[in-house]
Amino acid sequence: MTAVAPATEHPASSPASRVISFYRSAIGKKAVMALTGAFLFGWIFLHMVGNLKLYLGPEHMNEYAKWLRVMGAPAMPNSALLWLMRVALVVAAWLHIQAATELTLMNRRARPVGYHERDYVAATYAARTMRWGGVIILLFVIYHLLHLTFGTVHPSFIENDPYHNVVAGFQVWWVSAFYIVANLALGLHLYHGLWSMFNSLGLNQKTFNPWRRVFATAFALIITLGNVSFPIAVLIGVVR
Ligand code: HEM
Repeated sequence: MTAVAPATEHPASSPASRVISFYRSAIGKKAVMALTGAFLFGWIFLHMVGNLKLYLGPEHMNEYAKWLRVMGAPAMPNSALLWLMRVALVVAAWLHIQAATELTLMNRRARPVGYHERDYVAATYAARTMRWGGVIILLFVIYHLLHLTFGTVHPSFIENDPYHNVVAGFQVWWVSAFYIVANLALGLHLYHGLWSMFNSLGLNQKTFNPWRRVFATAFALIITLGNVSFPIAVLIGVVR
């Protein structure tokens, strides 16, 4: 005799509730962190590459900033694509931070007493500093927006002149020092984040591991060297 299906379907089996219960699980949060992290990483990489225009001079840098505002036109209104990207960035950053916070709370609930002796040899420095690194990056991004996008904390901000804003901004030594420290923290965060992203997405076959290490090291290094070079170039007068 065949089994009779229940008259009403259990609510937990609807597609929406399956997505919600997946997100509530630790593995679901890790998947969200990996996907949003990959998106944020891609943006940070392109932002660094775009900022290399600083080395080509004010016309190139400012022309590029102007292009960002009109990209997608005439198919789309001016700034429409830029605003879409900004919304996507905020949503990705929000989901990334929310999943990280909830994973931390889940871990604490699972081990309320904490480790007496953590295995500091097994965990790399980058892995151990993910949470504090994340906090430093968040504070940096808030400062960075007030500094170079809104100009609120900039000594001589000029609208639509990012070349001037970057150069005049980095001529203040402690601002440059803060950018350098924050970008070193970002480098460590990216290195461990890129490495663990593959785990979270289930791509952790043994033969693939050396490539993961090379990928994470290369991209974290390229982004960090690029970003740290800008304040240094201004401080030593290569860019002025
Ligand atoms: C030393 C390295 C960096 C330099 C020189 C730099 C430069 C700039 C400049 C000039 C702008 C304003 C662009 C404009 O309004 O046309 C900007 C915007 C922005 N930067 Fe950076 N940036 C750096 C690193 C970073 C990092 C590491 C992050 C993220 C972790 C970041 C996130 C942002 C964001 C979110 C915006 C606003 C984009 C928008 O809404 O248009 N920046 N940056």
